[in-house]
Amino acid sequence: MKVLVIGSGGREHALCYRLARSPRLDKLFVLPGNAGTEALGTNVPGDPCDIALALSVARREAIDLTVIGPEDPLAAGMAEAFEQAGLRVFGPNAAAARVEADKAYAKHLMRQHAIPTAEARVFEDYELARQFIATRDESLVVKAAGLAQGKGVIVCDQPADAILAAEQILVHGVFGAAGRKIVVEERLNGREASVLAIVDRRTLYVLEPAQDHKRLSDGDQGPNTGGMGAYSPTPAISSETMRQIETQILVPMLDALVREKIHYRGVLYAGLMLTAGGPKVLEFNCRFGDPEVQALLMRMQSDLLELLDATVAGRLDQTEIRWDPRHALCVVMASPGYPGSYPKGLPISGLPDDEIDDLAVFHAGTKRENGTIVTAGGRVLGVTGLGATLAAARERTYAAVEKIHFEGAQYRRDLGQ
Ligand code: AMP
Ligand code: GLY
Repeated sequence: MKVLVIGSGGREHALCYRLARSPRLDKLFVLPGNAGTEALGTNVPGDPCDIALALSVARREAIDLTVIGPEDPLAAGMAEAFEQAGLRVFGPNAAAARVEADKAYAKHLMRQHAIPTAEARVFEDYELARQFIATRDESLVVKAAGLAQGKGVIVCDQPADAILAAEQILVHGVFGAAGRKIVVEERLNGREASVLAIVDRRTLYVLEPAQDHKRLSDGDQGPNTGGMGAYSPTPAISSETMRQIETQILVPMLDALVREKIHYRGVLYAGLMLTAGGPKVLEFNCRFGDPEVQALLMRMQSDLLELLDATVAGRLDQTEIRWDPRHALCVVMASPGYPGSYPKGLPISGLPDDEIDDLAVFHAGTKRENGTIVTAGGRVLGVTGLGATLAAARERTYAAVEKIHFEGAQYRRDLGQ
């Protein structure tokens, strides 16, 4: 098969890494890809949200299956554009992608279907938000309702901080159009986990659980990011909890979507807080989580191309996924200044020349410039290792991280501890 992957991050490199191992793959194209994906397929330059360009590449190269990685092209309707053109595509349509692209809509569906989540109110008007927050005396979380690359969430210790956050988003527009509406919700406590399912309408295949680390710095300090590292499996989730997550969260969400007349096909990602009162939803995403997918795909032993193809063909119910029982840990190396503004074009040295067993360096924001690999984004690399124990995975991963250099590289040193 000829496959086109849309996107340029660590998620897309990890997808390409697994797709390239499929005996069914003939040719791989990536729009636009990065310095890592170019070793596995053909990078096609361009904007990953450019639907007309993606369609023309798919037609020109006679692509059999297109896999859309990021949320932005999904929310912009790339999947239905492919379907309408008679092209096979893995990824939900825009109406389905609203579970991620509009947090107010996701809350509405969860409330209607009694899916456990934080109590929340939605505001478009700063004055109303301020009045509401002023009546509260607990910690709150303020979120831009739209897509903000995982950075649009402000966890506030004091109501006064929540008022400032609401002002920043609604009045000063720090998240642009994504912050025209905000969700103000109760702060939940517990451990976080990400549970992803592959979905085709009513069929759901739950993947192994993973844990993301959203805060920039060690000890879960500093601002929220797109994700600074992940591991899988997660010791925090028992099989009983996994069953709860499936029956109380994922299945009711699918029912909710079916009632909305949405045919969901792709990944449904539940970001969860494991509270004393059971698992509760922090957010839904409409795609593979990044960096969680880097850890997950390191552990996937069955054929990813077969899985994605079976989903699109409506054969998901006949598919079986085999997992490596070992532990995978991904450590993200980010640019200096991330998640704020950061320089680009810093040369990267110390990347492994040869393949190392049970280790992959997934590229995110990288590109090749005059033969040198340089930084080109906020999150630069996802170094991902496997080990019989989490401690062994940690040792293998950090040994590789410590050999890689670019000026001002930021990474967490406490992952998997
Ligand atoms: P989200 O993008 O909505 O998942 O939020 C990003 C991160 O903010 C989550 O991974 C949590 O660490 C934190 N967060 C979001 N909502 C809450 C909440 N209600 N209570 C506590 N932390 C939260
Ligand atoms: N790692 C979190 C996300 O992909 O949204």
